[in-house]
Amino acid sequence: MSLFAKKSLDKLLADAAGGEKGLKRTLGAGSLVALGIGAIIGAGLFVRTAAAAGQAAGPAVTISFIIAAIGCAFAGLCYAEFAAMIPVAGSAYAYSYVTMGELIAWIIGWALIMEYALGAATVSIAWSEYLNKLLGGQIPYEWCHSPFESYTDSLGVLHKGMINAPALIILLLLTMLLIRGTQESAFVNAIIVFVKVAIVLLFIAIGWQFINPANHTPYMIPEGTAAVTDSAGKVIADYSPFNKHGWGGVLGGAAIVFFAFIGFDAVSTAAQEAKNPKRDMPIGILGSLVVCTLLYILFGHVLTGVANWKEFADPEKGREASVAYTISTYMTGYGWLAQAVTIAILAGFSSVILVMLMGQSRVFYTMSNDGLIPKVFGELHPRFSTPYKANWILFIFVGLFAAFVPGHTAGDLTSFGTLFAFVLVSIGILILRIKSPNIERPFRTPFAPVVSILGAVICLAMIVVLDAQTLKVAFAWMALGLVIYFLYSKKHSKLRNPSDIVTKASDFEKQ
Ligand code: ALA
Repeated sequence: MSLFAKKSLDKLLADAAGGEKGLKRTLGAGSLVALGIGAIIGAGLFVRTAAAAGQAAGPAVTISFIIAAIGCAFAGLCYAEFAAMIPVAGSAYAYSYVTMGELIAWIIGWALIMEYALGAATVSIAWSEYLNKLLGGQIPYEWCHSPFESYTDSLGVLHKGMINAPALIILLLLTMLLIRGTQESAFVNAIIVFVKVAIVLLFIAIGWQFINPANHTPYMIPEGTAAVTDSAGKVIADYSPFNKHGWGGVLGGAAIVFFAFIGFDAVSTAAQEAKNPKRDMPIGILGSLVVCTLLYILFGHVLTGVANWKEFADPEKGREASVAYTISTYMTGYGWLAQAVTIAILAGFSSVILVMLMGQSRVFYTMSNDGLIPKVFGELHPRFSTPYKANWILFIFVGLFAAFVPGHTAGDLTSFGTLFAFVLVSIGILILRIKSPNIERPFRTPFAPVVSILGAVICLAMIVVLDAQTLKVAFAWMALGLVIYFLYSKKHSKLRNPSDIVTKASDFEKQ
């Protein structure tokens, strides 16, 4: 059988219908939009907005948000078409199995681990940093840093990291919640989303009165702007490259804030748990994208209106903790809001981790049901109907990463995994339109060929501009994936070993 053997669409749709025996359909449109917002608003908004403004786009970071949102919307429309048509749990992995065959599906499933598992690890490390900030730095350095990190304090004492315990604790708590039930997790997620969106709205409404229009002129970073240096004269931000000023800077800013949109696709991993996926998947995916884009533009407008973008490049001013800096420096009388923003950030990070962990366990669940990874990943909890063993294994994998690896290594890999999935989903829509034009499509991507080709091209361009080190690690990861495919998955694939289906499907029924 060819490496590109495809799963039949009928089989996949039968899987989806059979979902009642497995994952429970408990999520409505509101929960799905909240899941999307839960995964989307996090470090990207609270940290990268100021970074993009200070390093590349100036106040035009609002336009950077619009450009990144357009790129995501193209992919988002394609996701919506697939998720409504094939409401199974595997997202991009499952769609590729039908359109491009097993090997590509495996590759994309393997790349999604970078998006969801590494994404969860990265954000849990950031969560630990912010918790320590909120507690006034009281957690001993050794207990909240990886063994690869160290620093010398003002008395000349060397501190070496040991384990990032807070990151591990938040992962454990969220894993336990996920095992407890999808509906319970969605409920907690909804509360968190309410808190973080309320604080973002408060910042926008209160900050609006403190906007100084002079900060918005000029709107883009002018050519010839002098570089920012630190007190030792080291260049911190150089505005001479094409992607650091003018329209080039706006594009450079879009690449920086792209991270802020990662996560809307996680909604599609919950398709098998949606009550009415045909109607609600497009609402969940596109609704959360629209809500977040509006919030992001307003947030960027206020942030760069209250403080000047140059302060966000300056390490002595707003480069670190930009939002808290802006509030405490310019918004007199609103010191409490700076604390509230830190709480919103912690809440935001928690929901991002929650939805990423959930997304990853659902991708594992589907890959396991297809035989490409061991059966244990697909076993459901007898009472809660959640893939609890997958959740525990994931906790160990993500936990090891979060506890012992520095945070910055994983962030860009998350972007790689996401963009790679976007490219394949965009191309997949075209393939299926040609191959199976008559299948029922409850949601159709408008102007499909144009939208899907543009979606694929934009996302491919964003992959190409990732730094060389990230690309090297990503390719090494993908190579490891291929070794595992040929040593294990190919032999155990149910598509390739139909005789197996009978036994394994009956095992599944017993659960
Ligand atoms: N979009 C998510 C965040 O900004 C990944 O944290």
